[in-house]
Amino acid sequence: MKEKIFIEGGKRLSGSIPISGAKNSCLTLMPASLLSEGALTLNNVPNLSDVDTMKELLESLGCVVCHQKINKTLHLKQSDEPLLLADYEIVKKMRASILVLGPLLARFGQAVVALPGGCAIGARPVNLHLMALEALGASFSIENGYVKGNVAKTLKGSKINFPFESVGATANTIMAAVLAKGTSELVNVAREPEIVDLCKCLKSMGCKIEGEGERTIIIEGVDNLKEATHNVVMDRIELGTFLIAGAISNSDLELTGGNITMLENFVNKLYEVGIEVCQSESNIRVRRIDSASINCTNVLTEPFPGFPTDLQAQMMALLSLADGVSSIEEQIFENRFMHVPELIRMGANIEISGRKATISGVDRLRGAQVKATDLRASVSLVLAALAAEGQTEIDKIHHIDRGYEDIIKKLADCGAQIKRY
Ligand code: UD1
Repeated sequence: MKEKIFIEGGKRLSGSIPISGAKNSCLTLMPASLLSEGALTLNNVPNLSDVDTMKELLESLGCVVCHQKINKTLHLKQSDEPLLLADYEIVKKMRASILVLGPLLARFGQAVVALPGGCAIGARPVNLHLMALEALGASFSIENGYVKGNVAKTLKGSKINFPFESVGATANTIMAAVLAKGTSELVNVAREPEIVDLCKCLKSMGCKIEGEGERTIIIEGVDNLKEATHNVVMDRIELGTFLIAGAISNSDLELTGGNITMLENFVNKLYEVGIEVCQSESNIRVRRIDSASINCTNVLTEPFPGFPTDLQAQMMALLSLADGVSSIEEQIFENRFMHVPELIRMGANIEISGRKATISGVDRLRGAQVKATDLRASVSLVLAALAAEGQTEIDKIHHIDRGYEDIIKKLADCGAQIKRY
């Protein structure tokens, strides 16, 4: 299906947008079901193609997965006789597939998982995942593009120092350590809210974990896990994206179901450029402080609680229209500026030097034919198009279906002239 998104820019938006459950949390929580003899039920699951891909992968491993899309509920139950091969045909669609490695090794002592390979935003190796699982007692060989993992008897608790924070490696290691014999001390772990959400879910399954959200996590291994139900945390990246939608289109938008405490650094940056975000008990409101202008600023992407790399492209769209010169330095991924040539097609003035982009604000963006290159890059084009004069046509929009539930409807319900066909 070669659909495109068409946006007629320059319309002010008004209304309310509901924030969905977090894609990145779901992709971590779903493999956690492999750890347990009992079923895992997840609520607040977004309807996204990445969730479908993880479902397909888990089913290929023998898991029975029932996704009730209307209720946003996912019911997962791993079979006692699993298949232990994560095939390249599925893994290549989504890097988060590597998250089945830790749970399979912990519960079944064996796993063969295709190496995910590089992707549009960088090489993204899995060396930290393997290093940490080896420290817990797994051994690996790499054969024909597959990681073959084996555990001699059982995983054993260990102290693991991560050289730098990795969300995926932290999640994989936590999921392995919960069934290891003894205590694990994981140092310099990722502190993202999605890691905290994983630990919350694992605790409800019977795991013993302390320190989630901090630099060191302590895990006391248990013998087996039990049935549980968990509500997926809200998607802070979707929330940040819609905050920029309100800001860039100079609108007064209301967002429901979100929480800005998980986006403090980002919200402070928005304030610096002249965007006010107010949280009340029932909603979040976003609007420009001075409706005529956006200020320039300098952004550095960092692990949580710093400015999220997953909001870098969206922020760049906003800064394209700022008064003065801004800069964005991408410190997490080495090749995450694929949206820049497309924003330039829309009239933005951006120069790249290594990992730094210099953005000289322009008075207006103009609609153009552009193509999506990855998930967050594609949504940055949607945001730019909301503010641009005339029509923008976005190609290769399957990227956007990976991570933004009902984005066309959510924006159209607030008055955006946006269609997909
Ligand atoms: C997760 C998120 C992704 C987000 C990223 C950073 C999911 C499903 N995806 O990706 O949306 O952009 O965190 O916040 O949650 N690295 C290594 N070796 C490793 C692992 C990582 O060198 O073994 C490097 C990566 O190439 C990258 C950096 O570490 O440069 C951070 O990556 P990581 O935090 O692991 O990102 P993901 O878990 O892949």
